[in-house]
Amino acid sequence: MRILSGMRPTGHLHIGNLLGALDNWVRLQNEGNETYFFVADWHMLTTGYKDTSTLSQMTKVLVIEYLSAGIDPQKSVIFVQSAIKGHAELFLILSMITPLGRLERIPTYKEQLRELSDREITTFGFLGYPVLMASDILIYDADGVPVGEDQTYHLEFTREIAEKFNSLYGETLKIPKALFSQVPKLLGTDGRKMSKSYGNVINIDSNLKELKDKIMPMPTDPARIHRYDPGTPEKCNVWHYHLAFNTPKEKLDYIHEGCTKATIGCIECKKILIESMANKLGPIWEKIAYYKAHENEVEDIINDGNEKARKSAEETMKKVRKALNLSF
Ligand code: TRP
Ligand code: SF4
Repeated sequence: MRILSGMRPTGHLHIGNLLGALDNWVRLQNEGNETYFFVADWHMLTTGYKDTSTLSQMTKVLVIEYLSAGIDPQKSVIFVQSAIKGHAELFLILSMITPLGRLERIPTYKEQLRELSDREITTFGFLGYPVLMASDILIYDADGVPVGEDQTYHLEFTREIAEKFNSLYGETLKIPKALFSQVPKLLGTDGRKMSKSYGNVINIDSNLKELKDKIMPMPTDPARIHRYDPGTPEKCNVWHYHLAFNTPKEKLDYIHEGCTKATIGCIECKKILIESMANKLGPIWEKIAYYKAHENEVEDIINDGNEKARKSAEETMKKVRKALNLSF
């Protein structure tokens, strides 16, 4: 299968992005699919057009974090959206056949307008977000698009607009499927929804000290007021972190019994969690440090990926132009 996905360069990736998205991308890559992963920098402009001062830096950071999480440039095409001008050409063409009302009715559109009301995003570009996203996907003939549930409506729109294109101009575009990740959502360290704006996230670009600082104060099962009060692991966010970070079975059993019988304290439980997290994140930290010290290598990887993506995009664009009788 040809698989494609991307993220906006809005800041560092956190453990929610890692477990919910990137681990899944890496699995799809290693299962022998033809995988394309990109940085949606034009999409970042739809809401962040006012301050673009860190855009190129954030783009590089995102690629470094993709690579460090296990995206392998030997196996996947890693590229930057704005380097492939075909996305913009297809966006323009699809915009001709996209009814305004269809975009206005996408539930996340109104929601975001409300949530980001301070950003002045009643713009043509922001309304067109899904059209650009459809172009990202359709230009690579993607079969599957691993995305979060929040992108459901965008994928639905993509399929619909591709079908409309095909019915108007003949079978040209492949109809892609959304691939939703099966992993349950991890909450933030304070038990609320994980969100940068709550400050309850752990970035993958972190270190042991930061892990300790964020894990040790985590709220636990409120029933465990004293060390001798038994608790229910299932009611505790720390327990769910243990499951997400693959604490080994023997240790999980030890914690479960220790918590329910009050034979271990929350501090010990959290120390074991920090160990599990460091096991998973340690190799990522090392790679991040490596790529930060070798930015030239990152640039080479991006240039190489851009070139491959451009070729693939151009093949689709030739067919698209031909279908529309745009002959020059
Ligand atoms: N809209 C996606 C998000 O916010 C990012 C994105 C842009 C994307 N284009 C895409 C994801 C194409 C998958 C395929 O997460
Ligand atoms: Fe949570 Fe662990 Fe404390 Fe039980 S022992 S309440 S699972 S932190």
